[in-house]
Amino acid sequence: MSQGICLEKLPLDLEQERLPNHVAVIMDGNGRWAKNKGLPRIAGHRRGASALKELLRCCKDWGIQVLTAYAFSTENWGRPAGEVDFLMSLFEGKLRQELREMVDEDVQIQFIGNLQALPKSLQAEIERSVVATEHNRGIRFRVATNYGGRQEIVQACRAIATQVQQGKLQPEEIDEVLFKRYLYTADVCDPDLLIRTSGEMRLSNFLLWQMAYSEIYITETLWPDFDRSEFHRALSDYQQRSRRFGKV
Ligand code: IPE
Ligand code: IPE
Ligand code: MG
Repeated sequence: MSQGICLEKLPLDLEQERLPNHVAVIMDGNGRWAKNKGLPRIAGHRRGASALKELLRCCKDWGIQVLTAYAFSTENWGRPAGEVDFLMSLFEGKLRQELREMVDEDVQIQFIGNLQALPKSLQAEIERSVVATEHNRGIRFRVATNYGGRQEIVQACRAIATQVQQGKLQPEEIDEVLFKRYLYTADVCDPDLLIRTSGEMRLSNFLLWQMAYSEIYITETLWPDFDRSEFHRALSDYQQRSRRFGKV
């Protein structure tokens, strides 16, 4: 990862104590970014991967504990096969290429989603990077790959139902705390801030359970152009918010 020229330290106008612990991003607009430049969509995905690397470094520099990035949704299989194949090999190539730096920079990478449906070679790369970084504590980096919020909730229900069927769990014991333990995000706090680029105002099946009280920030900027100054703006906006969680 290359060192940013400016904004390496937390900008002075941001309060360290009021930073979000967990930032989630819907990295949208790669295709439009490429189209605007007369390039094929895959060029946008390539630039999008660089933008993610820069955001990860920025989160680490500024003291964000968890970053979850939406890389591929359960609905994205519906794209043309060529684009899907490109994305799968991009993920695999990037993992292989960046592993050394993630190890050195104390990044702990993990993946959420239905990983069994991914190409075997990508699964192997995922496994390798997770194992190699599991003891790192600098930042927790979660990549949502073949992730769908509904799929996640359904698989949790199925696992809980199996426990009940086997007599290991009573229906009365099922509450929000127990349910959370069956989600991919069992061991992380819910996102405090969701950022979506490219101006779309929807969740697109991302972290449906977990985002019950997340603050949402939407920018017109397309994902490949999302940089430190954009992230700075999102955090400044977040710090103006009053989070009430239903209270007064
Ligand atoms: C987001 O960019 C990346 C993925 C969904 C993998 P898009 O590919 O959705 O870009 P647009 O929305 O078509 O511009
Ligand atoms: C959401 O973007 C999924 C990812 C960023 C991986 P999409 O481009 O797939 O979402 P829609 O289709 O605009 O809702
Ligand atoms: Mg899109």
